[in-house]
Formats: sequence, C-alpha cells, structure tokens
Amino acid sequence: MKISVIGSGYVGLVTGACLAEIGHEVVCTDNDAEKIKILEAGGMPIYEPGLEKVIPKVHKEGRLSFRSNPADAVTFGEAIFICVGTPPLPNGDADLSAIDHVARLIATEARSPKLVVEKSTVPAQTGQELKRALSVYGRKTGVTFRVASNPEFLREGTALGDFLHPDRIVVGVEDEIAEQQLKEIYRPVLERKFKCPVHASGCLDGPAPAWVVTTINSAELIKHASNSFLALKISYANMVADLAERLGADIGEVTRAMGLDPRIGPSFLSAGLGFGGFCLPKDLQAFVHLAERSGVDFSLLREAEKINKKRIDHFFEKMRGALWVVRGKQIGVLGLAFKPNTDDIRFSPAIELVNRLISEGARVCAFDPEAMDRARAILPEIQYAKTAYEAAQDAEALLIATEWPEFGKLDWERIRNAMARPLILDGRNLLSASKMKAEGFEYRSFGRQD
Ligand code: UDX
Repeated sequence: MKISVIGSGYVGLVTGACLAEIGHEVVCTDNDAEKIKILEAGGMPIYEPGLEKVIPKVHKEGRLSFRSNPADAVTFGEAIFICVGTPPLPNGDADLSAIDHVARLIATEARSPKLVVEKSTVPAQTGQELKRALSVYGRKTGVTFRVASNPEFLREGTALGDFLHPDRIVVGVEDEIAEQQLKEIYRPVLERKFKCPVHASGCLDGPAPAWVVTTINSAELIKHASNSFLALKISYANMVADLAERLGADIGEVTRAMGLDPRIGPSFLSAGLGFGGFCLPKDLQAFVHLAERSGVDFSLLREAEKINKKRIDHFFEKMRGALWVVRGKQIGVLGLAFKPNTDDIRFSPAIELVNRLISEGARVCAFDPEAMDRARAILPEIQYAKTAYEAAQDAEALLIATEWPEFGKLDWERIRNAMARPLILDGRNLLSASKMKAEGFEYRSFGRQD
C-alpha cells in the first residue's frame, strides 16, 4: 500500500522504515527541512539501533523516500500516519497544535480518499476533533476521510523490534473498511511473514500479535492508561526500595519474587532515579489533566509523579551522606540519556542530576556512549569525557545515572586507581553491591544494604 508518514521523529521514522521493510511504499515528511536533508543525504537525524541499517536499505530498494513538502506526502498515501509531536504545555496538557496543523493540511491537500491514522499519543476524543477538522477544512474538495487511532507502544532503543514483534496491535476504528485497511497494512507483522532486519533468527517463532479492534476513544485511552500504569509501577517499586533500604531488605530480591507472579509481571519494577524520557512523564501529566477535566480525581497518578520528582533529591541526600560537602568537588557522571541505547536526553533524570550538581557547585565530568552531542547543546558548562575512565579521573564520586550495559563491564581496578576517592553512587542499581565492595569501593545504591 502507498503510505505517508507525517512527522519524522522517533515514532515517524521507525514507523516509516518498518512499514517499508514489510513491503509498503512509504513517503516520510517533516516540517523540519534540515532533517529531511540529512535523511536524503543518507544520514540519520536520531540514534535508534537498527535504523541506520534499515533506512538506507529500503531507501535504496525504492520503498522509502523523503519529501520536504508535506503537501506532497498528503497526495501520495492512501493511508496517512500522523506521527507529529504532542509536547506538554506549561499546564501539563498535551499540545495538539501540530495535530491540528496536519489535519488542516490533509483536509485541504487531499484529492482522493484517505485513511488518516493517529499514531501520536493524544488524549481520548482527539480522534473526534480530528474528524471534525478534516470535514470542516475539507468541505470544498468532497474527499472521504476515515479516521483511525493506532497507538504506538515503541520503546526507544528497541523500537524496531517493538514495531515488528508487538504483543498487540491496537486499532481504534469506526467502520469495517478502516479496520480492513489497517489489517492489510499490518498483515506481514500479524502473519509474521517478513524478513526480520533486527534479529538473526528465531524472532518470528513466538505467538502472533493480538489484533485488538476498539473504538477510537478506547484506543486513545489504552495508550495513556498503559503508559501511566508503567509510571505507576516504577514509582511503586521506588517506594518499596526506600522501605527495603530502611528495613534491611534488598529491593532486587523483593521485585524479582514479586515479578514471578504473572498478575504483577517482572518488568518496570527497577528502582533508581525514576522515569524520564519524552513519553512517560508527559503522558502521565496529560492523563491526570484529562481525568480532572473529565471530573475524575486521579490523585493516584499525581502521587506517582510526586514520588518520581523526589528521586533526584533522595539520590542527592545519599551523595551528601557519603561526600559531606558537594561544593567544589570533582564528580564523574556515567550516563546522560534518559535510558540506555538511545541518545535521547529529553526529560532525562541524568540531565536533571547534572543540573543539580552544577547548582550545588560541583565540578562535573560526564560520559555517555551516545548522548553527549545532544547534552553539549544544553549543558555547555560541564566537561565531557571520551571514556568512562576519563570521567572517573580524579573524581571524588562516580555517579551512574543511566544503566548502559557497558558500564557494568568496566575495568574497576582502573576506575579505582583513577579516582581521588573510590566512591560509587549507583542511581540505577546496575552493579552488584558485594562485587563493588570486593573491588575496594564505597558503594551506594537504591533499596539495598550497601
Ligand atoms: C515508553 C513506553 O514504554 C512505550 O510503550 C511508549 O510507546 C513510549 O513511552 P520509552 O519512553 O522509550 O517508552 O521508555 P521506557 O522504556 O518506557 O522507559 C521510561 C523511563 O522509565 C526511563 O527513564 C527508564 O529508565 C525508566 N524506568 C523503566 C525505570 O526507572 N524503571 C523501570 O523498571 C523501567
């Protein structure tokens, strides 16, 4: 099928690349002309593992192309995926102006029937507004529009795998035609009939994804409710960690056993600096606002947000407890991205931590395998190291702020010898407390008896 993707950020590029990979003809566009220029020249405007292989491949094979003029993309696709950003407004609501802009563009430029698919995370009932905008602004052309909601559940760092091997594909539709069109689009994924560009083998042997057909309102709600639940789970684990610390228990042991209960599940129970990124914090906020506007008191989620905001304070207290005075001290920071395997620093707890260190007068030297270029743009005042070892040089404390797997495999003797004081504060419980002690470090983490 001919498919257009409007918005070439993380979600748009992954969606476009994967749809092309499974056989569709795809055009991606973005209002940032620079981004399109980079893509056309074979470059990658973002870091997402696997994308650097898939995009050039499908581009070369002629199934993926880029347009700087969004109107061309509207003309091209039978289905148009809206993947523009819905950033938070100062009051926490989702800013839907980009969706509104795209709706008008589609309405005025389309000359043939279109299936308009919302992929961006939006509050429930946005689909109804989208439908209204398409019919109001498209009234002169008489084109038929079908609107559908197809929320993405892509995690940065594993987004390609998540797209190609989802647990479920949720489609919120109003009629059978829209459902069938979406089924056609996802058929290779549903039937697992494609060559996986991410995994060597075995990935297509598992159960087929669930095909979940709902109303548009339900599909929209599923996305917000899912992300908010994940946030809730993390904050819960963080509170249990604080309690474990005081009661002489070990959070790793506790959550491992909790997670074995299938009603709870093992994921999103890792304690530490809390959740960040462009989705969880903003979706949680937008969901709380949506609930309030709808007359539902969702203070449970407000608590989850409050707990998350306090994680950095809590970490700082640990650091102060170990270091005493922070001002003037050399601190090494490992990790700047909001989680491993991405260069994304938006709403990253690690960045917040560095800002706190600066405001408290510490001298910071940071290292991240992928996120340093982005960090430099917003944090020019700190030093950036070429390696983790350089970040540890002369440091009075080494902070682990993002759990990049490679930080778990460092040569600790070398780190210890480089540091002014062998103190490690592990904000992500990445390392083993007993191993670090055996390596000669003072070691602090969350929810454990360090
Ligand atoms: C999230 C959702 O998982 C995904 O389904 C949705 O489509 C987009 O938003 P993402 O933002 O990529 O994905 O990150 P995610 O893997 O969910 O992690 C979010 C944050 O939670 C990170 O800062 C991570 O470090 C933190 N986290 C995650 C924890 O602190 N503990 C955990 O146990 C899991």
